[in-house]
Amino acid sequence: MIGKKVGIIGAGAVGATAAYSLSMMGTCNEIVLFDIAEGVADGKAIDIAQASQYSKQPTIITAAKTPADVSDCDIVIITAGVPRKGDMTRADLLMINAKIIKSVTKDVMKYSPNAIIISVSNPLDVMTYVIHKITGWESNRIIGLAGALDGSRMAYQIYKKIGFGAGQIGKLVIGDHGENMIPLPQKVKVGVVPATDLLTDEEFQDIIERTKKGGAEIVNYLGTSGYYGPGRAIAHMVEAILEDTKSVVSSCVMLNGEYGYNNVTVGVPVVLGKNGVEQIIDMTLETKTREKFKTSVESIQEGIKILEENEFFN
Ligand code: APR
Repeated sequence: MIGKKVGIIGAGAVGATAAYSLSMMGTCNEIVLFDIAEGVADGKAIDIAQASQYSKQPTIITAAKTPADVSDCDIVIITAGVPRKGDMTRADLLMINAKIIKSVTKDVMKYSPNAIIISVSNPLDVMTYVIHKITGWESNRIIGLAGALDGSRMAYQIYKKIGFGAGQIGKLVIGDHGENMIPLPQKVKVGVVPATDLLTDEEFQDIIERTKKGGAEIVNYLGTSGYYGPGRAIAHMVEAILEDTKSVVSSCVMLNGEYGYNNVTVGVPVVLGKNGVEQIIDMTLETKTREKFKTSVESIQEGIKILEENEFFN
Protein backbone atom coordinates (compact mmCIF):
# COMPACT_ATOMS: atom_id res chain seq x y z
CA MET A 1 0.00 0.00 0.00
CA ILE A 2 1.50 3.31 -1.07
CA GLY A 3 2.16 6.00 1.50
CA LYS A 4 2.59 3.80 4.53
CA LYS A 5 5.59 3.94 6.80
CA VAL A 6 6.81 1.16 9.05
CA GLY A 7 9.42 1.68 11.76
CA ILE A 8 11.42 -1.23 13.10
CA ILE A 9 13.22 -0.80 16.41
CA GLY A 10 15.82 -3.50 16.73
CA ALA A 11 17.35 -4.34 13.37
CA GLY A 12 18.65 -7.72 14.48
CA ALA A 13 17.77 -11.04 12.92
CA VAL A 14 13.99 -10.80 13.36
CA GLY A 15 13.62 -7.06 12.71
CA ALA A 16 15.70 -7.15 9.55
CA THR A 17 13.94 -10.27 8.25
CA ALA A 18 10.57 -8.58 8.81
CA ALA A 19 11.89 -5.59 6.81
CA TYR A 20 13.14 -7.89 4.06
CA SER A 21 9.83 -9.72 3.87
CA LEU A 22 7.84 -6.47 3.76
CA SER A 23 10.07 -5.03 1.05
CA MET A 24 9.76 -8.16 -1.09
CA MET A 25 5.97 -7.99 -0.85
CA GLY A 26 5.79 -4.22 -1.43
CA THR A 27 3.46 -3.85 1.54
CA CYS A 28 4.51 -0.33 2.51
CA ASN A 29 6.41 2.43 0.77
CA GLU A 30 8.88 3.21 3.52
CA ILE A 31 10.70 1.25 6.19
CA VAL A 32 13.01 2.84 8.72
CA LEU A 33 15.30 0.69 10.83
CA PHE A 34 16.82 1.65 14.15
CA ASP A 35 19.25 -0.31 16.27
CA ILE A 36 21.27 0.69 19.28
CA ALA A 37 24.31 -1.22 18.02
CA GLU A 38 26.25 1.11 15.80
CA GLY A 39 26.21 0.31 12.10
CA VAL A 40 23.67 -2.52 12.34
CA ALA A 41 20.67 -0.55 11.03
CA ASP A 42 22.84 1.10 8.34
CA GLY A 43 24.26 -2.18 7.07
CA LYS A 44 20.93 -4.00 7.07
CA ALA A 45 19.11 -1.07 5.44
CA ILE A 46 21.62 -0.91 2.58
CA ASP A 47 21.54 -4.69 2.07
CA ILE A 48 17.72 -4.85 2.04
CA ALA A 49 17.43 -1.73 -0.15
CA GLN A 50 19.69 -3.43 -2.69
CA ALA A 51 17.61 -6.62 -2.55
CA SER A 52 14.48 -4.53 -3.09
CA GLN A 53 15.79 -3.46 -6.50
CA TYR A 54 14.32 -6.80 -7.63
CA SER A 55 11.07 -6.61 -5.70
CA LYS A 56 7.72 -6.17 -7.41
CA GLN A 57 7.18 -2.74 -5.88
CA PRO A 58 9.82 -0.31 -4.63
CA THR A 59 10.25 0.32 -0.92
CA ILE A 60 12.37 3.09 0.55
CA ILE A 61 14.54 1.55 3.26
CA THR A 62 16.61 3.77 5.51
CA ALA A 63 18.52 3.60 8.76
CA ALA A 64 17.63 5.96 11.58
CA LYS A 65 20.56 7.61 13.31
CA THR A 66 18.53 8.30 16.44
CA PRO A 67 15.15 7.18 17.80
CA ALA A 68 13.80 10.58 16.71
CA ASP A 69 14.29 9.53 13.08
CA VAL A 70 11.71 6.76 13.52
CA SER A 71 8.99 9.36 13.22
CA ASP A 72 5.37 9.49 12.04
CA CYS A 73 5.19 5.77 11.42
CA ASP A 74 1.88 4.03 10.79
CA ILE A 75 3.24 0.88 12.43
CA VAL A 76 6.23 0.44 14.71
CA ILE A 77 7.58 -3.05 15.23
CA ILE A 78 9.55 -3.51 18.43
CA THR A 79 12.07 -6.35 18.34
CA ALA A 80 14.71 -4.66 20.48
CA GLY A 81 16.11 -6.80 23.21
CA VAL A 82 18.27 -9.73 24.02
CA PRO A 83 17.25 -12.95 22.26
CA ARG A 84 16.73 -16.23 24.08
CA LYS A 85 19.84 -18.37 23.88
CA GLY A 86 20.45 -22.08 24.53
CA ASP A 87 18.56 -23.24 27.61
CA MET A 88 17.74 -19.70 28.77
CA THR A 89 14.03 -19.51 29.56
CA ARG A 90 11.88 -16.63 28.43
CA ALA A 91 11.49 -15.64 32.08
CA ASP A 92 15.26 -15.09 32.35
CA LEU A 93 14.91 -12.33 29.85
CA LEU A 94 12.16 -10.58 31.73
CA MET A 95 13.86 -7.76 33.58
CA ILE A 96 16.54 -7.02 30.95
CA ASN A 97 14.08 -6.76 28.11
CA ALA A 98 11.40 -4.94 30.13
CA LYS A 99 13.81 -2.05 30.72
CA ILE A 100 14.75 -1.92 27.05
CA ILE A 101 11.08 -2.02 26.02
CA LYS A 102 10.19 0.76 28.45
CA SER A 103 12.77 3.12 26.99
CA VAL A 104 12.00 2.23 23.38
CA THR A 105 8.24 2.60 23.96
CA LYS A 106 8.71 6.10 25.33
CA ASP A 107 10.48 7.01 22.09
CA VAL A 108 7.62 5.58 20.02
CA MET A 109 5.11 7.66 22.00
CA LYS A 110 7.15 10.78 21.32
CA TYR A 111 7.98 10.33 17.66
CA SER A 112 5.18 8.15 16.25
CA PRO A 113 2.26 9.06 18.50
CA ASN A 114 -0.39 7.66 16.14
CA ALA A 115 1.28 4.36 15.39
CA ILE A 116 0.06 0.84 15.90
CA ILE A 117 2.73 -1.11 17.76
CA ILE A 118 3.59 -4.72 16.98
CA SER A 119 5.41 -6.16 19.96
CA VAL A 120 7.90 -8.96 19.29
CA SER A 121 10.54 -9.02 22.04
CA ASN A 122 10.44 -11.90 24.53
CA PRO A 123 9.01 -12.81 26.92
CA LEU A 124 6.37 -11.72 24.47
CA ASP A 125 3.19 -11.62 26.50
CA VAL A 126 4.71 -9.69 29.39
CA MET A 127 6.54 -7.27 27.07
CA THR A 128 3.23 -6.60 25.30
CA TYR A 129 1.69 -5.85 28.70
CA VAL A 130 4.58 -3.47 29.44
CA ILE A 131 3.87 -1.56 26.22
CA HIS A 132 0.18 -1.26 27.13
CA LYS A 133 1.00 0.07 30.58
CA ILE A 134 3.74 2.47 29.47
CA THR A 135 1.73 3.97 26.60
CA GLY A 136 -1.73 3.91 28.15
CA TRP A 137 -2.97 3.82 24.54
CA GLU A 138 -6.26 2.28 23.37
CA SER A 139 -5.68 -1.44 23.56
CA ASN A 140 -6.46 -2.06 19.86
CA ARG A 141 -3.21 -0.28 18.95
CA ILE A 142 -0.85 -2.72 20.66
CA ILE A 143 -0.56 -6.23 19.29
CA GLY A 144 1.92 -8.94 20.17
CA LEU A 145 3.30 -11.45 17.70
CA ALA A 146 2.40 -14.86 19.04
CA GLY A 147 -0.16 -17.00 17.24
CA ALA A 148 0.88 -15.81 13.78
CA LEU A 149 4.24 -17.47 14.40
CA ASP A 150 3.22 -20.39 16.61
CA GLY A 151 0.32 -21.07 14.23
CA SER A 152 2.70 -21.30 11.28
CA ARG A 153 4.78 -23.75 13.31
CA MET A 154 1.66 -25.82 13.98
CA ALA A 155 0.61 -25.72 10.32
CA TYR A 156 4.10 -26.91 9.37
CA GLN A 157 3.80 -29.88 11.73
CA ILE A 158 0.40 -30.79 10.25
CA TYR A 159 1.87 -30.51 6.76
CA LYS A 160 4.76 -32.78 7.72
CA LYS A 161 2.32 -35.47 8.83
CA ILE A 162 -0.03 -35.37 5.84
CA GLY A 163 2.30 -34.16 3.07
CA PHE A 164 -0.11 -31.78 1.35
CA GLY A 165 -2.07 -28.58 1.84
CA ALA A 166 0.86 -26.22 2.59
CA GLY A 167 -0.49 -22.67 2.77
CA GLN A 168 -4.02 -24.01 3.23
CA ILE A 169 -3.67 -25.20 6.80
CA GLY A 170 -5.39 -23.31 9.62
CA LYS A 171 -3.20 -21.67 12.24
CA LEU A 172 -4.79 -21.70 15.67
CA VAL A 173 -2.62 -21.38 18.76
CA ILE A 174 -3.88 -19.54 21.83
CA GLY A 175 -2.45 -18.79 25.27
CA ASP A 176 1.04 -17.56 25.99
CA HIS A 177 3.96 -17.52 23.58
CA GLY A 178 5.89 -19.91 25.80
CA GLU A 179 5.78 -23.24 27.59
CA ASN A 180 2.03 -23.15 28.17
CA MET A 181 0.96 -22.23 24.66
CA ILE A 182 -2.13 -24.06 23.45
CA PRO A 183 -1.95 -25.33 19.87
CA LEU A 184 -5.40 -26.43 18.69
CA PRO A 185 -4.74 -28.60 15.60
CA GLN A 186 -8.02 -30.49 16.10
CA LYS A 187 -9.88 -27.25 15.46
CA VAL A 188 -8.39 -26.33 12.08
CA LYS A 189 -9.04 -27.29 8.49
CA VAL A 190 -6.73 -28.31 5.68
CA GLY A 191 -8.26 -26.56 2.70
CA VAL A 192 -11.92 -27.44 3.16
CA VAL A 193 -11.33 -30.65 5.11
CA PRO A 194 -11.43 -30.75 8.93
CA ALA A 195 -8.05 -31.88 10.29
CA THR A 196 -9.94 -34.44 12.41
CA ASP A 197 -10.70 -36.32 9.17
CA LEU A 198 -7.01 -36.55 8.34
CA LEU A 199 -5.17 -37.22 11.59
CA THR A 200 -5.45 -39.55 14.59
CA ASP A 201 -5.53 -38.50 18.26
CA GLU A 202 -1.96 -39.72 18.62
CA GLU A 203 -0.86 -37.63 15.67
CA PHE A 204 -2.59 -34.56 17.11
CA GLN A 205 -0.73 -35.06 20.38
CA ASP A 206 2.56 -35.26 18.52
CA ILE A 207 1.73 -32.10 16.53
CA ILE A 208 0.91 -30.26 19.77
CA GLU A 209 4.20 -31.30 21.39
CA ARG A 210 6.28 -30.45 18.33
CA THR A 211 4.58 -27.10 17.92
CA LYS A 212 5.33 -26.19 21.52
CA LYS A 213 8.97 -27.08 20.96
CA GLY A 214 9.04 -25.39 17.56
CA GLY A 215 11.16 -22.46 18.69
CA ALA A 216 13.52 -24.55 20.82
CA GLU A 217 14.13 -26.99 17.96
CA ILE A 218 15.61 -24.17 15.89
CA VAL A 219 17.64 -22.89 18.86
CA ASN A 220 19.11 -26.40 19.24
CA TYR A 221 20.31 -26.41 15.65
CA LEU A 222 21.45 -22.82 15.33
CA GLY A 223 22.29 -21.79 18.88
CA THR A 224 20.02 -18.82 18.33
CA SER A 225 16.31 -18.24 17.70
CA GLY A 226 14.73 -18.53 14.29
CA TYR A 227 14.05 -15.40 12.29
CA TYR A 228 12.56 -16.31 8.91
CA GLY A 229 9.37 -17.61 10.55
CA PRO A 230 9.04 -14.65 12.93
CA GLY A 231 9.95 -12.14 10.20
CA ARG A 232 7.33 -13.47 7.81
CA ALA A 233 4.70 -13.72 10.55
CA ILE A 234 5.28 -10.06 11.47
CA ALA A 235 4.97 -9.09 7.81
CA HIS A 236 1.67 -11.00 7.64
CA MET A 237 0.32 -8.92 10.53
CA VAL A 238 1.56 -5.68 8.94
CA GLU A 239 -0.15 -6.61 5.66
CA ALA A 240 -3.42 -7.27 7.45
CA ILE A 241 -3.28 -3.87 9.15
CA LEU A 242 -2.06 -1.69 6.26
CA GLU A 243 -4.28 -3.40 3.70
CA ASP A 244 -7.20 -3.53 6.16
CA THR A 245 -7.85 -7.16 5.28
CA LYS A 246 -9.75 -7.97 8.49
CA SER A 247 -7.79 -11.22 8.65
CA VAL A 248 -8.20 -13.50 11.63
CA VAL A 249 -4.79 -13.93 13.25
CA SER A 250 -4.10 -15.19 16.76
CA SER A 251 -2.25 -12.40 18.52
CA CYS A 252 -1.31 -11.34 22.01
CA VAL A 253 -3.86 -8.70 23.07
CA MET A 254 -5.16 -7.07 26.22
CA LEU A 255 -8.29 -8.83 27.44
CA ASN A 256 -11.12 -6.75 28.77
CA GLY A 257 -13.56 -9.39 29.96
CA GLU A 258 -13.11 -11.71 26.99
CA TYR A 259 -12.49 -15.32 28.01
CA GLY A 260 -13.34 -14.20 31.56
CA TYR A 261 -10.12 -12.21 32.11
CA ASN A 262 -9.16 -8.59 32.58
CA ASN A 263 -5.89 -6.70 32.53
CA VAL A 264 -3.80 -9.47 31.03
CA THR A 265 -2.21 -9.80 27.61
CA VAL A 266 -2.54 -13.24 26.05
CA GLY A 267 -2.86 -14.89 22.68
CA VAL A 268 -6.36 -15.28 21.24
CA PRO A 269 -7.78 -15.01 17.72
CA VAL A 270 -8.40 -11.42 16.67
CA VAL A 271 -9.46 -9.56 13.54
CA LEU A 272 -6.64 -7.38 12.21
CA GLY A 273 -7.39 -4.33 10.12
CA LYS A 274 -6.62 -0.64 9.78
CA ASN A 275 -7.33 0.04 13.46
CA GLY A 276 -5.07 -2.77 14.61
CA VAL A 277 -7.20 -5.15 16.65
CA GLU A 278 -10.66 -4.66 15.13
CA GLN A 279 -12.27 -7.37 17.22
CA ILE A 280 -11.31 -10.01 19.75
CA ILE A 281 -12.96 -13.33 18.94
CA ASP A 282 -14.26 -14.85 22.15
CA MET A 283 -14.25 -18.54 21.25
CA THR A 284 -16.08 -21.07 23.36
CA LEU A 285 -13.41 -23.23 24.92
CA GLU A 286 -13.96 -26.84 25.99
CA THR A 287 -13.40 -27.53 29.69
CA LYS A 288 -9.91 -28.99 29.19
CA THR A 289 -8.81 -26.13 26.96
CA ARG A 290 -10.26 -23.62 29.40
CA GLU A 291 -8.11 -25.13 32.16
CA LYS A 292 -5.02 -24.93 29.97
CA PHE A 293 -5.87 -21.33 29.13
CA LYS A 294 -6.09 -20.55 32.85
CA THR A 295 -2.62 -22.03 33.42
CA SER A 296 -1.31 -20.03 30.51
CA VAL A 297 -2.85 -16.77 31.77
CA GLU A 298 -1.46 -17.44 35.24
CA SER A 299 2.05 -17.91 33.85
CA ILE A 300 1.80 -14.49 32.21
CA GLN A 301 0.40 -12.95 35.38
CA GLU A 302 3.41 -14.35 37.27
CA GLY A 303 5.74 -12.48 34.91
CA ILE A 304 3.73 -9.28 35.37
CA LYS A 305 3.91 -9.79 39.14
CA ILE A 306 7.72 -10.05 39.02
CA LEU A 307 7.80 -6.65 37.31
CA GLU A 308 5.37 -5.18 39.85
CA GLU A 309 7.38 -6.55 42.76
CA ASN A 310 10.48 -4.92 41.30
CA GLU A 311 8.55 -1.64 41.14
CA PHE A 312 8.95 -1.58 37.39
CA PHE A 313 5.73 0.34 36.77
CA ASN A 314 6.29 2.98 39.50
N1 APR B 1 17.15 0.12 20.99
C1 APR B 1 17.26 -0.38 19.75
N2 APR B 1 17.76 -1.59 19.48
C2 APR B 1 18.14 -2.34 20.53
C3 APR B 1 18.05 -1.89 21.87
C4 APR B 1 17.52 -0.58 22.08
N3 APR B 1 17.40 -0.07 23.29
N4 APR B 1 18.52 -2.87 22.66
C5 APR B 1 18.88 -3.90 21.89
N5 APR B 1 18.65 -3.59 20.60
C6 APR B 1 18.91 -4.37 19.40
C7 APR B 1 20.19 -5.19 19.45
O1 APR B 1 21.33 -4.39 19.15
C8 APR B 1 19.93 -6.23 18.36
O2 APR B 1 20.43 -5.86 17.09
O3 APR B 1 17.89 -5.36 19.25
C9 APR B 1 18.39 -6.29 18.31
C10 APR B 1 17.86 -7.66 18.65
O4 APR B 1 18.23 -8.48 17.62
P1 APR B 1 18.86 -9.94 17.81
O5 APR B 1 19.78 -9.92 18.97
O6 APR B 1 19.34 -10.40 16.49
O7 APR B 1 17.58 -10.79 18.26
P2 APR B 1 16.43 -11.38 17.33
O8 APR B 1 16.70 -12.80 17.04
O9 APR B 1 16.17 -10.44 16.21
O10 APR B 1 15.21 -11.34 18.35
C11 APR B 1 14.65 -10.10 18.76
O11 APR B 1 12.50 -11.01 19.21
O12 APR B 1 11.78 -13.19 19.09
C12 APR B 1 12.23 -12.18 19.93
O13 APR B 1 13.32 -13.36 21.73
C13 APR B 1 13.51 -12.54 20.63
O14 APR B 1 13.44 -10.70 22.15
C14 APR B 1 14.03 -11.19 20.98
C15 APR B 1 13.58 -10.35 19.79
